[in-house]
Amino acid sequence: MTSNIASVRAREILDSRANPTITVEVALESGAGGATAVPSGASTGALEAVELRDGDAKRYRGKGVLKAIANVHDTIAPKVVGMPGDAQRKVDQAMIDLDGTPDKGRLGANAILGVSVAVARAAAAEAGKPLYRYLADGEPTLLPLPLLNILNGGKHAEGSTDFQEFMIAPVGAPTFAEGLRWSVEVYHALERILHEGGRPTTLGDEGGFAPPGLANDGAMDLVVQAITAAGYAPGDQIAIALDPATSELESNGKYELTREGSTLTADELVDLWADWCRRYPIASLEDGMAEEDWDGWRSLNARLGDRMQLVGDDIFVTNVERIREGIRQEAANSVLIKLNQIGTLTETLDAIAEASRAGWTSVISHRSGETEDTTIADLVVATGAGLIKTGAPARGERTAKYNRLLAIEAELGDRARYAGGSALVQSRA
Ligand code: PGA
Ligand code: ZN
Repeated sequence: MTSNIASVRAREILDSRANPTITVEVALESGAGGATAVPSGASTGALEAVELRDGDAKRYRGKGVLKAIANVHDTIAPKVVGMPGDAQRKVDQAMIDLDGTPDKGRLGANAILGVSVAVARAAAAEAGKPLYRYLADGEPTLLPLPLLNILNGGKHAEGSTDFQEFMIAPVGAPTFAEGLRWSVEVYHALERILHEGGRPTTLGDEGGFAPPGLANDGAMDLVVQAITAAGYAPGDQIAIALDPATSELESNGKYELTREGSTLTADELVDLWADWCRRYPIASLEDGMAEEDWDGWRSLNARLGDRMQLVGDDIFVTNVERIREGIRQEAANSVLIKLNQIGTLTETLDAIAEASRAGWTSVISHRSGETEDTTIADLVVATGAGLIKTGAPARGERTAKYNRLLAIEAELGDRARYAGGSALVQSRA
């Protein structure tokens, strides 16, 4: 028997972009406790759950989270204190009911998620289990294939490429630790290539390089060059994964590529992806089409869905209803999972399960604004999802997740298995 929730405390802290965010600490009657911090996106989907900000221009440019904190103390805590610490689904449902809106706009998804994850952490602590084991059904042993964002553009790096994320995936590595090492070597090779080419090596929000003046396919060429320069075979050992975040490029049904000086129709954008698929070793494409372009998504999936992982982020926003619609329409074959897009741990686990039942993959993801919290590292192992996207192997808020996965792999010892490239193809096996 897990003891009951004794207290819930929230505070304002900073994220990696110098914006405030919320941290929540939960204590159980046994004395066990858990804490978490909530991340924040920049290229947010229009349909995401609401991140409650104060809007008080005198504090943090309006981005304070004191209202969300007050909602934790005044509304959520009185309801959940006294509930059993391991009643995760009941606690989450109680908060959903208290909020009463479809998008958690009253209490704030940041307030609700902070409590949700802190409760799980406290219950895991009381059970004497690491979070990845507490959240798992059976014995979790699968370490994920990491998608590492080594070149940043879009909203994460003003002045860099139109497309947001150019990632590498060590599909051919024997273990997670080796895959991470390979990826770090490619990261440093890219740094050297940029430096030798006279380009700045400044970093974007997710720790990847953000060189100015590059066309989108110029960035692809650099990434392939870096993989080769580090001594790895593009495709077989290290594949490429992309998140162009096209919702940010779309207006009135057209896609504007400012760097190339071109505007594409949805059909032309699908053609571009098909062309890139021939030219480059791309294993995964996220948000290849915009969040409301269902026709575009269907035609992209019909054209390339048998060859690559097509991940929906802004279109599905970790929402079971939208994922179900995507499955029905055959709009994709994979979903990006962000806890704060939906706002509770229970709904996040439900989203992963829904995708899995349809043979879709799930990619567990950080946000561009992060903290040192490592919940997603435990979550990807607990669910056996096999895929994580958590930025470049640089900057503390990104390395915290990779370092946590290294610790889990070490703890599992001989029982640890590494997903590698097989994680990408389960939906199309
Ligand atoms: P965000 O970007 O965290 O800024 O929304 C990440 C993504 O688009 O996947
Ligand atoms: Zn995305």
